[in-house]
Amino acid sequence: MYKGAFSMDSTPALSALLEAQKIAFGPMAFQAVRLLRNYGILECLDKNHNRRATSIAALQEQLNLSAYALKLLLRAGLAAQVVKLQGDDYALTAVGALLLRDEMTRVNMDFMHDVCYRAAFHLDEAITTASPSGLKELSQAATVYEGLAELEPAVLQSWLAYDHLYSDGAFKAASMIVFSQQVDSLLDVGGNTGKWSRYCLAQRPELKIGLFDLPRQVGLARRSLVDLADRCQIDFHEGDILSPHTRLPHGYQIIWMSQFLDCFSAEQIGDILRKAHEALPDGGTLYILEVFSDRQSYDVGSYVVNMSSPYFTCVANGNSFFYAYEDFQPLLSEAGFCISRCYDDLGLGHTLLECKKAQ
Ligand SMILES: C[S@@+](CC[C@H](N)C(=O)[O-])C[C@H]1O[C@@H](n2cnc3c(N)ncnc32)[C@H](O)[C@@H]1O
Repeated sequence: MYKGAFSMDSTPALSALLEAQKIAFGPMAFQAVRLLRNYGILECLDKNHNRRATSIAALQEQLNLSAYALKLLLRAGLAAQVVKLQGDDYALTAVGALLLRDEMTRVNMDFMHDVCYRAAFHLDEAITTASPSGLKELSQAATVYEGLAELEPAVLQSWLAYDHLYSDGAFKAASMIVFSQQVDSLLDVGGNTGKWSRYCLAQRPELKIGLFDLPRQVGLARRSLVDLADRCQIDFHEGDILSPHTRLPHGYQIIWMSQFLDCFSAEQIGDILRKAHEALPDGGTLYILEVFSDRQSYDVGSYVVNMSSPYFTCVANGNSFFYAYEDFQPLLSEAGFCISRCYDDLGLGHTLLECKKAQ
């Protein structure tokens, strides 16, 4: 029998040493487990579950892989506790089942591989230069947002799946809060492909919607909302929010920013909030939907948030991350806003801030 699983490391020092090795071998563990998933090995083990465990020979019959490849990957999977041994045969663990079926895990893994993996090699340069040095692995653009429309299709798909998974999950709960009052008009700043705007119009077809984004993203949004164009009032506003000449359009009762402010440095956020303050009428509301590192209810939420932040450094723009709520409070009050309500645990760990112009 192959004795590859860890079972005797019960002292705190050995447990800590094992945890340290998980980090040291992290890239290898990641790639081997990704192949266990992508080659269909986890799925085969899952299908054969009623037979309890599956032999290498049985896996070979079902998959076009050599015995060498199967043994190699399964032993790495044992180390990563994705599979377990029963006699000489292999079965899926609970972790393996999640890698196979859990949507958040799948989306995070694809995002890490397609968007972040090669770029992470440049993290040190990105930190020292405060620029997204790893982005050159994907695009020649200065920030990921400027290069988004030209990313390779598989990379763009993984980027969008990651972006949408987190924000979409919170949209339903957030919309119930936003539309619990009478709302005539809403400006979606950083509206991307227009998913939130579509969501709002599905519930309030009479709503006047504005979508503001970089010109290329507005192009994407126009195309994805084309079916609504003659039935609903949607105005598209192109602009770079960072340009000193850009003002946000006036005439909207609500300004909505979902997963937008985390794209910028604290100083830039201050400038953007001042632009929102200037554009909103008296009595208007700024809604900010974000994941905050200090408002996560579960350890898994904190882990995902803090491990996602280096993406902003080496891929996105070099100078932002998922902020803490306590980072935002002073920025809002300096821009003339006060937080009137704060709703936690929307979707997968989002917080919705309702902000009013301070009196
Ligand atoms: C992370 S996405 C969020 C998209 C969407 N709001 C959501 O919740 O899924 C950030 C959006 O901000 C836009 N953006 C980034 N930098 C910008 C800039 N300088 N000016 C205008 N929009 C910008 C991007 O193009 C992108 O659509």
